[in-house]
This record gives sequence, structure tokens and C-alpha cells, in this order.
Amino acid sequence: MSNARVEFPGDFVWGAATAAYQVEGAAAEDGRSESIWDRFSATPGNVVNGDTGIVACDSYHRYGEDIRLMRELGLGAFRFSVAWPRIVPDGRGRVNAAGLDFYDRLVDELLANGIEPFVTLYHWDLPQALEDLGGWPVRDTMEAFTEYVEVVVGRLGDRVHYWITQNEPWVISWLGYGLGVHAPGRANEEEALAAAHHVLLSHGRAAEVLRRDAPAAEVGITIDLVPMYPLTDSETDVEAARHSDGFRNRWFLDPVLRGAYPKDMLEQYADILPTVVDGDMQTIAAPLDFLGVNYYTRSIIRAGSNGTAPTAVPADGAEHTEMDWEVYPDGLSDLLLRLRDDYELPPLYITENGAAFPDARQNGSVPDTQRVSYLDRHLGALAHAIEQGVAVRGYFVWSLLDNFEWAFGYTRRFGIVYVDFQTLERVPKASYDWYRDFIAAQRGAGAGTQV
Ligand code: FCB
Repeated sequence: MSNARVEFPGDFVWGAATAAYQVEGAAAEDGRSESIWDRFSATPGNVVNGDTGIVACDSYHRYGEDIRLMRELGLGAFRFSVAWPRIVPDGRGRVNAAGLDFYDRLVDELLANGIEPFVTLYHWDLPQALEDLGGWPVRDTMEAFTEYVEVVVGRLGDRVHYWITQNEPWVISWLGYGLGVHAPGRANEEEALAAAHHVLLSHGRAAEVLRRDAPAAEVGITIDLVPMYPLTDSETDVEAARHSDGFRNRWFLDPVLRGAYPKDMLEQYADILPTVVDGDMQTIAAPLDFLGVNYYTRSIIRAGSNGTAPTAVPADGAEHTEMDWEVYPDGLSDLLLRLRDDYELPPLYITENGAAFPDARQNGSVPDTQRVSYLDRHLGALAHAIEQGVAVRGYFVWSLLDNFEWAFGYTRRFGIVYVDFQTLERVPKASYDWYRDFIAAQRGAGAGTQV
């Protein structure tokens, strides 16, 4: 079971990804303030088992060990996020030097090990102080983000070349503000659309800061995309799938890549549209150096009856992960080809792809064959898209470590390294060995250059 014969370009970037709140722990150390995820997970009923990120993988203290694992893996790049509450604890104003020092050490240690840092500026841990002032639905939050970005870029911009402004604007706005299943747990569609607009705008503003303060920076945004397949060829199912695509994908792709919200969705949301100020759309559509794509699964869509909303229907008999997400590798190649056909694209990175399965330790090893198969088939699909001419520069497996999987707490393991959450011991899984061999084979086959 190996795609090792599939050949990727010689300078292709092989990476792994994590996010601050999911791995760092040290929630109250060195001046870090409360984030919306601290507040949300401390509230009973929000997260499975009442789990929180207070300790997580303790990577704040164990990053040296994590980087050793990355080096032995042969990783070319590591994607991690900066925790805003460590840098500007009150959301605006006072800068916390100890927080900056931590990322300074992390970046230096990565570079000393030949690993390129890909820094995500926002992966969902908004300072609670800003949520108390209204959070992302409020335009000022975008101004506060711009100030925080100036501080981070000022400190790391001389060594970090790859920047991801925002991670998954759909999840931030809809899961956090529209559906209430993520922090801060609000359920209001109008607020979700306002949040989405300010998150997109904050991306454009961050890009301006990066261009000004770190002119050599490669600037991108990561968007989570779920390709929609109509259940049947009927006109109503096809239309329903198009609508779901507008809600989930085009509402974010179109502003960033075309400078406008999609017309059909503007009509759909006519009563709850966000306030768009002159110049906003130009800011959002600032030229990108790359687009980050997160891909996990697809949806199959059936039209609602009598004007009700379209519904996603399960793929009967198909393989599913522990998240109940269908394993559908062809969705990745279909998605990439569709992006290529529909948009003028910058180069792409797959900034997340991976799967949760119920892994167990067996005599010191973790035989996660389903994950190996998942990764192998998705890399095959990716290679297929690249052969068709889609410009993809790199791939980041989600995740390096088992970690705090948001509302699922520690009950969903996505890592290629197993983490014992009692002892914090790290145990590389079979998928880690597989990925190491895959990367080595690719380096052997190609030019073998790292970024
Ligand atoms: C993505 C998130 C990431 C992780 C994976 C499983 O939506 O960006 O933090 O939770 O899903």
C-alpha cells in the first residue's frame, strides 16, 4: 500500500500542521490571557468530557521534542499558529514580550533543524477581551487584528517567509457565530455573515501589513473547502448542490479571488447582509502569493422538499472516519481541477488533510493502517491533479500530534504521532513511519531540495 512511485515535483514542500490552542497548553503562563476557547471549553456542555486546552500536548514546553520528531520525519515545513492572547493579551494595546519570545525560540529551533516555518496568524483563539467587545461581528476586531499582526511581523518577519493570515473563515464565522458549536458559541446568521466579512477583511489588512513590513513575505490565506456533489442529476439536486457550494465555498473564494461576493448568494442572504464599506472588497482581494486549501471530505446534496434547505445525505456503504466524514480522495482532485477551471489561481498549498481514527497503542506501537491508507490515497489524488497541471507547491498533513480537537476534546485523534494525554508521551504511529519513508522516496526521486 504505497504511492511511493507517484512522483511529486522535486521542490515540493512536505509538511505537517498544528494550531496553538490545540497543542500548546500553558494556558495561563508567561502572561497569556484568556481566549474564547478557554471560556467556551470551561463552560459545561460545550466540549466532550469537559476537555480544555489548558495542558493539551504541552508543546509550549515540549516543542524541542516535537521538532526532533519533525526532523526525524524529514519534514521540510511546519505550519503552526501564533496565539494572539500571548502577544496582545488585552486584544489591543500592551504587548507581552514573553509571548513573542516563545515564538522567537520556536522559529529559531525550526530553522536550526532545516524546517521552514509556515505561520498562521489566526487559528481561532480570539482574546476573550475582544469577544467581550463584540468579537468578529464587530468591525473594530479587524483593526485590533491588524495591530497584532504588525507586532508579530515586526518580530518574526526577518525569519519567517510564509504567512497564512486566517484559517478557515467558514468555520470561524459559521461554527462560532452562526451555529454556536464552536467558541464563542453564538447562533445568529446575521452575526455569522458580519464575522465572515470582518475575517476576510482582516486577511486583506494583514496582507497589507506583510507587504509593507516584510516585503519578501509569501502571503496566503487558508480556506476550508468541501466539494458538493448533487445526489442525482435532477435540476433541483444540482441547484441545491450549487447553493450549498455558495454557502460553504464560493462565499469565501469569490471575495478573495474575484473581489466580490457571489451574486446568487447575495440574493439569498438579502435580509442579513453585512455592512460593506467602500474599498473593502478591493482590500479582501489583494493579490495572493498562494492559496491554502484544507480538504477532508465531500458532501452529497439533496434538494429540500417544498422550499426547505438542501440537506447533506450520507454516502451509504462508503468508508467514514471517526468524525463521520466520508473518505473520498477523488474529491481532492475534483476540487483542485475545479478551482483551476473557475478561478485565476495563485499557487496552492494543501495546508491540511488528514483523518481521525480510534487509534490504540499496542506494545509501544500504534498500527494506524486506516490513516496510512487515507493519506496514501489522498496523495495519489493530489499527484493526479498536479499531473493535470494544477500548481500545488506543498502538502501539510493534519496533524503532527494528536491534540485538542475543538468541541470533540481529546476524543478524536488526527496525529501521525500518538499523544498519551496522561503522561504527554509521544509515540510515532505507523503513519509517521509511512510518511517518513514517503518523503524520503520523493527526495530520492526528485531533486531533493527543501524550501
Ligand atoms: C480543521 C481545523 C483544524 C483541525 C481539523 C481536523 O477544520 O483547521 O484545527 O481541527 O479541522
